[in-house]
This record gives sequence, C-alpha cells and structure tokens, in this order.
Amino acid sequence: MLRLKSCLTVFLGCTLAASPLLAAPADSVRMRIAEFRELGASFKTVNDAMRSPSPQTMLIQIAARQIVNSSKQIYLWFPAGSGPESGAKTKAKPEIWKQAAKFKLAQDAFGKQALAFQRAAGSGNVAMIQAESRKLGATCKGCHDTFRTPDN
Ligand code: HEC
Repeated sequence: MLRLKSCLTVFLGCTLAASPLLAAPADSVRMRIAEFRELGASFKTVNDAMRSPSPQTMLIQIAARQIVNSSKQIYLWFPAGSGPESGAKTKAKPEIWKQAAKFKLAQDAFGKQALAFQRAAGSGNVAMIQAESRKLGATCKGCHDTFRTPDN
C-alpha cells in the first residue's frame, strides 16, 4: 500500500510538471512562443550554415535533432483555451481549435518533413540538405499562412 501510494505520488508529480494542459492559458501562450523562438533559432542555424560554401554538417545535424524534438512536442503547445480568448497576446488563430483535424495535418506534415530533413542532414549531402530544408521551410509557412495571424 505504501509502495503504491509513493508510486502514485511520483506519477502525479511528473504528470503535473510535464502537462501544459494544466497550466494557466497565459502560461501556455508564453511557453509556446518561447518554444517557437527556439525552433526559429534552430532553423536559422540551418539557413546560416547553408550559406557557407562548405556547410558545417555537424551544426546542421544538431539543429535537425532539435527541430525533430520540437516537431514531436508541438502537439502539446496548443492546449484548449490558449487562443486569443485567453486574453494573452498571441498570433494563434481560433481556427487551430475550430479546424482541429486540419491543424493536426499541418503538425503531421511538419513532423514528417523534420524527419526527412534529419535524414538528409545525416547523409552530409549538401544538395540533399538544401532541398529538404526548403521543403521543411514550406511546412512552417504552410501552417503559418493558415493558422497564424500575419504581421501587420
Ligand atoms: C502546425 C503549425 C505550425 C508549424 C508547423 C510551425 N509553426 Fe511557427 N507558429 C505557429 C503559430 C500558430 C504561431 C503563433 C504562436 C502564438 O503567437 O501563440 C507560430 C509562431 C512562430 C514564431 C514566432 C514566435 C514569436 O516570437 O512570437 C516563429 C519564429 C515560428 N513560429 C517559427 C517556425 C518555424 C521555423 C517552423 C518550421 C521549422 C514553424 N514555426 C512551424 C504555427 C506553426
């Protein structure tokens, strides 16, 4: 019994700490934007590296791993209530929740392409890395065009 109880405590503790669903909506928005900034920085690392005549594939591989991690986490970044109705400053459009199936397709497309990009990065073939990173950028843009409020 004692053992069961301590297991449960540990389990609940972990779940509470890890679950953005239980965070206040404004915190979810803040966390999401911080995550996207990191994702943006990783993608910038790739684009900057690709500008070199002999790109540092090691740097690109590290960035690729971070991008894949983000693509797995992105499903947790949009808990219900973290849209504009939260009152927090956010560019997440209400369509994210109204067209949840379509939004999931955009997340899936990103995840799939992040893996393809990581494979290309692993190959070290610069032409392939270039091609897959363009396709990756298209999945960012595809989602932003539909689900993110444009900058004025
Ligand atoms: C499935 C949808 C989706 C995908 C895929 C996606 N984004 Fe976004 N992104 C968003 C949304 C929605 C926001 C607005 C978040 C907010 O304001 O709460 C955003 C915001 C951002 C921001 C702005 C953060 C800030 O400072 O306000 C950056 C940078 C960004 N994304 C980069 C990227 C990059 C780079 C990729 C691809 C490698 C990507 N995103 C893929 C939906 C997506």
